[in-house]
Amino acid sequence: MEVIICPDAERVGEIAAAKVAQIANRVGPRVVLGVATGSSPLALYARLADRVRAGTLDLSEASAFALDEYVGLPVTHPESYHDTIRRTVTEPLGLEPSRVHVPNGQATGVDLELAGPRYEEAIKAAGGVDVQILGIGGNGHVGFNEPTSSLSSRTRLKTLAAQTRQDNARFFNDNIDEVPTQCLTQGLGTILDARNAVLVANGEGKAAAIAAMVEGPVTSMCPASVLQLHPHATIVVDEAAASRLTMSDYFKLAYASLPPWQRLDV
Ligand code: GLP
Repeated sequence: MEVIICPDAERVGEIAAAKVAQIANRVGPRVVLGVATGSSPLALYARLADRVRAGTLDLSEASAFALDEYVGLPVTHPESYHDTIRRTVTEPLGLEPSRVHVPNGQATGVDLELAGPRYEEAIKAAGGVDVQILGIGGNGHVGFNEPTSSLSSRTRLKTLAAQTRQDNARFFNDNIDEVPTQCLTQGLGTILDARNAVLVANGEGKAAAIAAMVEGPVTSMCPASVLQLHPHATIVVDEAAASRLTMSDYFKLAYASLPPWQRLDV
């Protein structure tokens, strides 16, 4: 696990975007991105958009797969992940909308059961995800894989944890009753299959989850800790989110010692 500690959230966005761009440029224009919602990756997307505008990153033939979606929200609801991904990823990065995929949270009955396996098939048909962008929940979730999610889970229907619904109530008029109770989410096994993972986090509120993910045991009680098993996971955090790491001096030394060809162009 590579951990990069930045002075502030703005720098987290710049460094994480540089990492994603480095991978995307190595793969080429048909890169497959895994994209996350939440506030944490917004600066990363904005800095990627700068690179697209400047002509140093070509995403014209890229495709993208979102991590998750609420069940039962209309796709036009501003808090549906369909609409959130359109606003924060598809439009700013100039992606072709038909190549941007979000799990079908509108499905019901058997179709809802099949939505996960169908999503897995679509990822496979695209050749797999080259770089998965991730945030982390205060309870250590990634996507909507709540604590106790199987470490080898695939895209499926999940029930949201009470804390997650409470955390996300801010997007629903501060009314927890408006937050959906279920979701479709890529599994931890699906996320592990991405060829690279870049996770971003900012602020004191994420410090405990970051410490558990990086320095704690691999356990389903901290779903993000599964990234310890990933061969190419990069964690980009600000000082506040890194504040409970005991190995921060080592991480800073390791980043300062990167060979020239691995340095990030920012
Ligand atoms: C949401 C999303 C996650 C995201 C997390 C943190 O519930 N499903 O993908 O990483 O919460 O969100 P934020 O970055 O706003 O703290």
